[in-house]
Amino acid sequence: MISVRDLVKRFGRSEVLSGVSLDVAPGEVRAIMGPSGGGKSTLLRCLNGLERFEGGAIAVGGDRLTPEVHTRRDAALLRRIRRRVGFVFQQFHLFPHLTVLENLIEAPVHVLGLERERAVARARQLLERVGLPHKLEALPRQLSGGQQQRVAIARALAMEPEVMLFDEPTSALDPAAAAGVQAVIAELARGGQTMVVVTHSVAFATATAAQVTVLSEGRVVESGPAAQTLRAPRHPSTRAFLAAAR
Ligand SMILES: Nc1ncnc2c1ncn2[C@@H]1O[C@H](COP(=O)(O)OP(=O)(O)OP(=O)(O)O)[C@@H](O)[C@H]1O
Ligand SMILES: [Mg+2]
Repeated sequence: MISVRDLVKRFGRSEVLSGVSLDVAPGEVRAIMGPSGGGKSTLLRCLNGLERFEGGAIAVGGDRLTPEVHTRRDAALLRRIRRRVGFVFQQFHLFPHLTVLENLIEAPVHVLGLERERAVARARQLLERVGLPHKLEALPRQLSGGQQQRVAIARALAMEPEVMLFDEPTSALDPAAAAGVQAVIAELARGGQTMVVVTHSVAFATATAAQVTVLSEGRVVESGPAAQTLRAPRHPSTRAFLAAAR
């Protein structure tokens, strides 16, 4: 579903990703972990075309991103990728002036061209799925952080993405709210949704992800089955990172 080959990303003179390769199979949940500044968020942003890159290639489903795509400003391709790939951020990013329902139907109606009635029916189902059926008419500021994040997940799902990317979806939340969000993600995993999840939580990664990739200073230093890799890390920077995380 996702194939990243030799990805190189620079910001000015500093190289942030130095030849990252990664494959994610359909239905797989992949955790990305590693020390702060290692390039995790940048990698996710490259995956859905939010960030240009200088070398290598990314394939998502049948679409292929290369450095040239961004210089050509291949708008149709970038739109297709962003439609295929849902993104959930640490800080929710809901439209503050729209109700939960309006947040959920905005893109399906305006981007996919779904009829309003169908979009509303889907929004109701999705809110059910994230455990917030009664919050249809609420504004984001009337919701707790955990509830807002569950709405953000529902909003991404409303586009029926082939892949969901999560960038530290629970790190702005207290433990109880985080558990609620993690339960939603675990449920998606059981449903076979392909996902890439950046997380600092060893417990969550072990419980939810089959595979883990550890990024440090722009390189993959370790990659493999989550339980095994996190229990017996081989690379010193993985060990240091895990010791700090615990
Ligand atoms: N827009 C930008 N311009 C310049 N440098 C950037 C930009 N975005 C990120 N960087 C740099 O790229 C490196 C990787 O950042 P990134 O946000 O991908 O790390 P991360 O692994 O997600 O870290 P964290 O765990 O703290 O979220 C950092 O050194 C950061 O300072
Ligand atoms: Mg980050």
